[in-house]
Parts: sequence; structure tokens; C-alpha cells
Amino acid sequence: MQLIDGKATATAIKAEIAEEVKAIMAKGGKQPHLAAVLVGHDGGSETYVKNKVLACEACGFKSTLIRYEDDITEEELLACVDKLNKDDDVDGFIVQLPLPKHIDEQKIIEAIDYRKDVDGFHPINVGRMAIGLPCFISATPLGIITLLKRYGIETSGKKCVILGRSNIVGKPMAQLMMQKPIGSPEFVTADMVKDGAVIVDVGTTRVPDATRKNGFRLTGDVKFDEVAPKCSFITPVPGGVGPMTICSLMKNTLAAGKKEYYK
Ligand code: GUN
Repeated sequence: MQLIDGKATATAIKAEIAEEVKAIMAKGGKQPHLAAVLVGHDGGSETYVKNKVLACEACGFKSTLIRYEDDITEEELLACVDKLNKDDDVDGFIVQLPLPKHIDEQKIIEAIDYRKDVDGFHPINVGRMAIGLPCFISATPLGIITLLKRYGIETSGKKCVILGRSNIVGKPMAQLMMQKPIGSPEFVTADMVKDGAVIVDVGTTRVPDATRKNGFRLTGDVKFDEVAPKCSFITPVPGGVGPMTICSLMKNTLAAGKKEYYK
């Protein structure tokens, strides 16, 4: 069994990005610039955005954090999106989700210029991804694809299981799962897994743990201790897909800076 080390991979990729940015700037090119909009004080969102700003530093990007209180109106947030769309110095930006209930998230996402949508949430990017055109792919799937590629894991012609089965149960269930991951800690046990399987665990549930300083530990959807010995490759939680998501946002921001997909 080989552990798929997302933490080490993300660190290596960020170092590679920093080298590329140095080379771009040495030739007089523009420093990539990511802006993040954070509404309110949700603990999880604060942590995500803080880590995104730190990742920008590691990659040599400029970053701008724009903060609003959670009583901001939808109109004011749309005006902020419009300003960022028009700001030539900003290559890409994200509006951290979730947003307060009185704001229509989809309306905000669709107001973002798809050429700056480094989250890959805009329907144009989602649609282009579906038909294999160059686009920003959202951070978690891009992180998983990058891990599989770096570890030389071929998926072409393989059975890729996303826990699905019949047309009336499995497939619609898989659709629902895709919209809403299992989020059930240690759901996948050894008896569900064949020898040599490749497992990518995207689960991140906070399980209360009094022995930890922050009072919880992050747990994946896979019962790691009993499943790992059967696998040829497996991602741990934490330290697997998680660190890859922000590093994928950095990859997209670099591509935005280089106008790689959209002029
Ligand atoms: N909230 C949780 N994950 C994400 C993400 O990848 N992007 C944004 N904008 N909000 C999030």
C-alpha cells in the first residue's frame, strides 16, 4: 500500500508555482493577483480564506482580502463583484461560500466574469469542463486529478467507482452524492473494498475529540486503519485531498495571470 501524500504534493506544487512566478516577473511579466471576498465571520470560512492568503504568499502571488459584515445586501455584493470583474490588476477572485441566507449564491456566482472565476463555479466553466474545453476546474476535483496524475495512476479504461449501482437507486444516488458527499465518518469499511483498490477520500467531518487542543479531529469517509492495508493507493484524512484544494486554486490563479484559457 502506498500513501497518496497530498500535503507533500501540495507543498511541491506551490514551490514549482513560486519558481514559475519568479521567472515570469524576471521577464517583466505581471505578478498573479488573487482577490478573496469574505462575508461575515463563519469559523470555517475564516480558516479557508486565511489559508488561501498564506498559499498566495508561498506562491509569490499578490493577494487582496475584501471583508464585509453579514448584513451586506445582495446589491452591494454584486457591486463588489462588478468592481473586481473590471479591475485589470485582479487576475482571479473568489467569493467564499457559504453566503448569508438573504443573498442568492447562484446569482453571485453567475455575476463573476468566468475568465476570472478561479473557483470554477460559473456555469460556463462547469459546462466547458463537461465537454473537455480549457477552463477553470474547481479545486477539489482538480486536486484529485492532479494527485492521480502525479502518482502515475492511470484511470483510462478503469472502473472508477463513486459508489453507484442501478438506474433507479445507484445512479440517482450517485448524483445526489456528487451534490452532497457522504460526510459520514468511517462509512467505508474493509469488506466494501477489493484488494489493490485506489481510494481517494474526500470526506472531512469534524469528530469531537477532547484530547485535541481545538476539541475535534478531522475524519474521512473511509475507516483508514482497516481499509488502507487492502489498497494499492489511498489518501489519508487529513493530509490527502485537503491540502490539494488550495494548491489547485493557486494553479488556477497562475493560469489566470498567464491568461492561459481566456484572453
Ligand atoms: N467554501 C468551501 N469551499 C469553498 C471553495 O472552494 N470556494 C469558495 N468560494 N467557497 C468555499
